Amino acid sequence: MKLSVIGCGYLGAVHAAAMAELGHEVVGVDVDAAKVEALSAGRAPFYEPGFEDLLRRSLESGRLSFSSDMAAAAGAGVHFVCVGTPQKRGEYAADLRYVEDATESLLGVLAPGDLVVGKSTVPVGTAARLAEMVADKAPGAILAWNPEFLREGFAVQDTLHPDRLVYGVPSGKDGETARARLDEVYATIVGAGTPLVVTDYATAEMVKTAANSFLATKISFINAMAELCEATGADVKQLADAIGHDDRIGRKFLNAGLGFGGGCLPKDIRAFMARAGELGADQALTFLREVDNINMRRRIRMVDLAREVCGGSLLGKRVAVLGAAFKPDSDDIRDSPALNVAAQLGLQGATVRVTDPAAVDNCKRDWPQLDYADTAEEAAERADAVLLLTEWKQYRELDPVAFGQVVAQKRVLDGRNALDRDRWEAAGWSYRALGRRAG
Ligand code: UGA
Repeated sequence: MKLSVIGCGYLGAVHAAAMAELGHEVVGVDVDAAKVEALSAGRAPFYEPGFEDLLRRSLESGRLSFSSDMAAAAGAGVHFVCVGTPQKRGEYAADLRYVEDATESLLGVLAPGDLVVGKSTVPVGTAARLAEMVADKAPGAILAWNPEFLREGFAVQDTLHPDRLVYGVPSGKDGETARARLDEVYATIVGAGTPLVVTDYATAEMVKTAANSFLATKISFINAMAELCEATGADVKQLADAIGHDDRIGRKFLNAGLGFGGGCLPKDIRAFMARAGELGADQALTFLREVDNINMRRRIRMVDLAREVCGGSLLGKRVAVLGAAFKPDSDDIRDSPALNVAAQLGLQGATVRVTDPAAVDNCKRDWPQLDYADTAEEAAERADAVLLLTEWKQYRELDPVAFGQVVAQKRVLDGRNALDRDRWEAAGWSYRALGRRAG
């Protein structure tokens, strides 16, 4: 099939390359000419394991191309809208400008029978509104909503092997047509037995925000337990292991620590609350405000803990921060808990050196006031405290004996409960972590 993908950020670029891998002829369109140039040359504009290989394979097959001109989307039968929906400045609501602009500029190239498929995360009600716009300006074209559940760091795998597909389609004949077209696009995935939910627009939109809200709630639940563990001397990691054995609860997403960040969970729970308010159902989601509060409190607690281990003041103390991305295997620093903590430490007078295997370039651009190092050893040189804030494999596997040689004080704060406490303590380190007793 001939497909277009509008918006070549994280979601769109991976989707475009993955659809080409599945055998479709795909054009990715983005207004950012630099991004188009990089992607066309087989260079990933972001760090994502496996993506560059997939991109190159798809480009070499001749089935994938990129353009900054919307006209390139003409002739494709299915058009995926994959642009961002960031949080509005100074408000909780999502900024729909890019989705609206993308859909509007797509209208000019649509032919009767074309299918427009929204994949962006949008407030419930958006698809119905866009469907009216499409019906009005491009008669004969149909709109569907097909939310995306990929995780950064696993984007390729999640796109090619998703754990479910959700189609939000209109009622009647158009809905049947939309479903048939999407089944054709995803034939390989559907054929592999992937669960499929076909529903209306509102449910499809809500599946995404509900899923992210649930994940955020699960993380904040265990982090609330961590606060209680800190008050009682209990151990949140063992607690998580023990409750996680109940398969109704499950161990996944019960890792206590610095909490969630990134371009999705924080802004999605806020946009969900804002939308509930508009719908007069704000009470239903007031708990998400607490989820957000618990999450933000972890960052403050981490700074307090760093101050405590440094003897009550951060003034003039050298602090090493390992990890800056919002999660490992990503160079994404949007709402990164690690950087938030690093910045607060700096503001309280510490000399902070940050390192990250992939995100340092992005950090230097957005946070020029912090100091950066290429390696963990360099960051930790003569440090009074070392903070592990993003649990990259290379930090989890650091040798505490050798690493102990470079620091001034063997004090480690494990912000992700990711280090082997016994090993670090055996090497003479004082170990502190969120939700766990002091050694
Ligand atoms: C999230 C969802 O997991 C995806 O399903 C969704 O498609 C995506 O948002 C999106 O809306 O596009 P992502 O933001 O890539 O994916 O990252 P997650 O793996 O969900 O992690 C989010 C944050 O939670 C990270 O900062 C991570 O460190 C933190 N986290 C995760 C914890 O603090 N504890 C955990 O147990 C798990």
